[in-house]
Amino acid sequence: MSTLPEEFTATTTWSDHLKVLRCPRCTSGLVPAPPRLRCAGCYATFPIRDGILVVKEQTDDNNRVAQEFYDSALWPKFRFWEKVTWVCNGGERRARNQVLRHLPRQPGLNLLDVAVGDGVYLPWMPVDWQVVGIDVSWSQLQVCRARTAGAPVRLVQCEAETLPFHDAQFDAVLSIGAFNYFNDPEGALREMIRVGRPGATIVISDEMPDLTGRMLGHKLGLPALDRWIVSRLMHLGDSFTDMVERFRNLDVRSIAGGVLPEVQYHEVWRGLGYVLVGRVPD
Ligand SMILES: C[S@@+](CC[C@H](N)C(=O)[O-])C[C@H]1O[C@@H](n2cnc3c(N)ncnc32)[C@H](O)[C@@H]1O
Ligand SMILES: [Zn+2]
Repeated sequence: MSTLPEEFTATTTWSDHLKVLRCPRCTSGLVPAPPRLRCAGCYATFPIRDGILVVKEQTDDNNRVAQEFYDSALWPKFRFWEKVTWVCNGGERRARNQVLRHLPRQPGLNLLDVAVGDGVYLPWMPVDWQVVGIDVSWSQLQVCRARTAGAPVRLVQCEAETLPFHDAQFDAVLSIGAFNYFNDPEGALREMIRVGRPGATIVISDEMPDLTGRMLGHKLGLPALDRWIVSRLMHLGDSFTDMVERFRNLDVRSIAGGVLPEVQYHEVWRGLGYVLVGRVPD
């Protein structure tokens, strides 16, 4: 989207894309009630701030740990280490393409990005793709909005576990870097399947949940050393580090296999990450 055609230079808004939205409380459609959207069934209202539709601001448990981290000053410091990982894997674009290559190269693709973050890779996507991105972090969404200004990208603040979209709306659903710590990964995957059209491609990627267990401290029986490295040196912070430790044995493969028939599992980034690829059943 770095070379935008003329028609995308106007701000992309929700008002011309209401058909995909549904109320997370009663599942009715949403109608304009400027400067908000209103549910046609239960009359709940949802503000649009800075062009971003706000469906859910308050989160709990893991989602809150993630939201607070990505809204905090720790994230830019941790990002340095993420960049180091990309460099070790041939550069960010090449490394991310190990995941993005699983998306169908379909003209005019309607893509949902679950946990879009700051949308660093959205400018690499074909200019005719329509993208909806959701995330819990307001600051990430704002950076994403600035990065994709004028492009056909629409953003929603909400949780992966309750997507405010009607069934069968998207040709593909992507989620990178968040699945392991969703409050309910299986529930979030069921939602991704629900909003995907029959045959839609689902691509989910994250780091291997057991990465800290592979560190030297754990091998030497000194887990506190690894904890210090991850939480302080790498700036993940205490709450996120606790969460990483708690979910070290998460079996993403069996979670996905239980919900998405014939899902494929590939290792990426020299075994540091995984990608799950499946199709919404017909
Ligand atoms: C590592 S970032 C990944 C962002 C982007 N996909 C990327 O690869 O650069 C993880 C993102 O997941 C979001 N997130 C975490 N849990 C979430 C949930 N339950 N629902 C929606 N977003 C979530 C965070 O706010 C954060 O922006
Ligand atoms: Zn409603």
